[in-house]
Amino acid sequence: ATTWPPTSYRLSIRPMNVQMLPGAATPMVGFAGRFPGPTLRAERGIPTVVTQANDWTENVTIHNHGHKVSAESDGHPVDYIQPGRYKNYYYPNDQRAGTFWYHDHTMDLTGAHVYAGLAGFYIIHDKAEDVLNLPSGSYDVPLLLQDRTFGDNNELIYNGNPHGWGGPTPVINGTANPVLNVAARKYRLRLLNGCNARTLNLHFAVQGKPVPFQLIASDGGLLEAPVPMKAITVTPGERYDVVMDFTNFPVNTVMDLLNVDDPEIDPLLPAMMQFKVNRTEVDSATVPPKLSVIDRLQEKDAKAFGTVELGLSADGETWTLNGTTYDPARIDIRSKRDTVTIWTLKNATAFTHPFHKHLVQFTILDINGQPPPPELAGWKDTVGVPGNGTMRIIFKNEQFSGTYVLHCHRLEHEDHRMMIQESVE
Ligand code: C2O
Ligand code: CU
Ligand code: CU
Repeated sequence: ATTWPPTSYRLSIRPMNVQMLPGAATPMVGFAGRFPGPTLRAERGIPTVVTQANDWTENVTIHNHGHKVSAESDGHPVDYIQPGRYKNYYYPNDQRAGTFWYHDHTMDLTGAHVYAGLAGFYIIHDKAEDVLNLPSGSYDVPLLLQDRTFGDNNELIYNGNPHGWGGPTPVINGTANPVLNVAARKYRLRLLNGCNARTLNLHFAVQGKPVPFQLIASDGGLLEAPVPMKAITVTPGERYDVVMDFTNFPVNTVMDLLNVDDPEIDPLLPAMMQFKVNRTEVDSATVPPKLSVIDRLQEKDAKAFGTVELGLSADGETWTLNGTTYDPARIDIRSKRDTVTIWTLKNATAFTHPFHKHLVQFTILDINGQPPPPELAGWKDTVGVPGNGTMRIIFKNEQFSGTYVLHCHRLEHEDHRMMIQESVE
């Protein structure tokens, strides 16, 4: 079901100053001069054309994370839009509704460019999901969760060392330490870990007391059923949609969104943002016990198998995939289109790496031999592969062929070439 002409957007990538902290504005680079970039919205099955005009001084290439698109529109790392040029990206939106995001993907510079501001939400809606009556409209709030280091003049400090970069200041939807006013009712919060390198372990609390929530969606859209949870781990690039119910909290209640860092991270980032209940309101939204049907690929139908090993070079200096580092001129894996495929992801390092595959969503068959927990049981495009762990994923490359990358979504790992290429044939 396609219509013509498609919905179209035109975004100018250009330098801008953003008021993120009191005092001086922060020099950044953004889509349409905004940070985050404008939230692009599409209806399932109705294609979109996004024209990206590079009005900046550096090469860029723009990737729509989680999208099933042709290789030409995928934002390959060396498919540059040079300064002064533009490119039309075609998005069929022929996939499940969900929370996606577009960001720069320039070879060796993705971390620097995303940190500087080149990221925004892309949301696919599906009318068929309206019957669920989930919180919508202004009660459906995408939250881009990031961390930054600011200098004395509020300028961004970036050090793209191979380990990873972030900072002690939470920046949510482009605002440092924000407070969001909410009504005493249910909200759908679309949590995107847009940090370059930090894994977030998130929970909500009122005066230090944890408040449970319902998890309703992961990277590739709605789960089968809501999962009641107290905390959620989100590695860089992953998305989780949750429903937080503020109904029983009196006006003036302040709820914190908190992060419990991994001990290896320095500096720590304990608090992300606050929600302040500022009014009561009638709430007719629901979270039904059944959300969607997941058409799972079956292990017995798999016809192709592969291994991706996440590693570290012998000298301990370079992260690797299958023992190698990124070369845009080399194909590392050849895959057949329309073939049920299982990959075994083997993490030979002690660290969690957020593994990301382009083109299609996958589901997880097992993690260290065990079935995935409910939050990891839906469609995914990015997943934290635990240190020294093994995970099997199943997917079917569909509709398009060509060269697509797979990589670690810790952006400094990716920029130090923890990335390889798959040729879908
Ligand atoms: Cu979100 Cu290949 O990236
Ligand atoms: Cu991607
Ligand atoms: Cu990594």
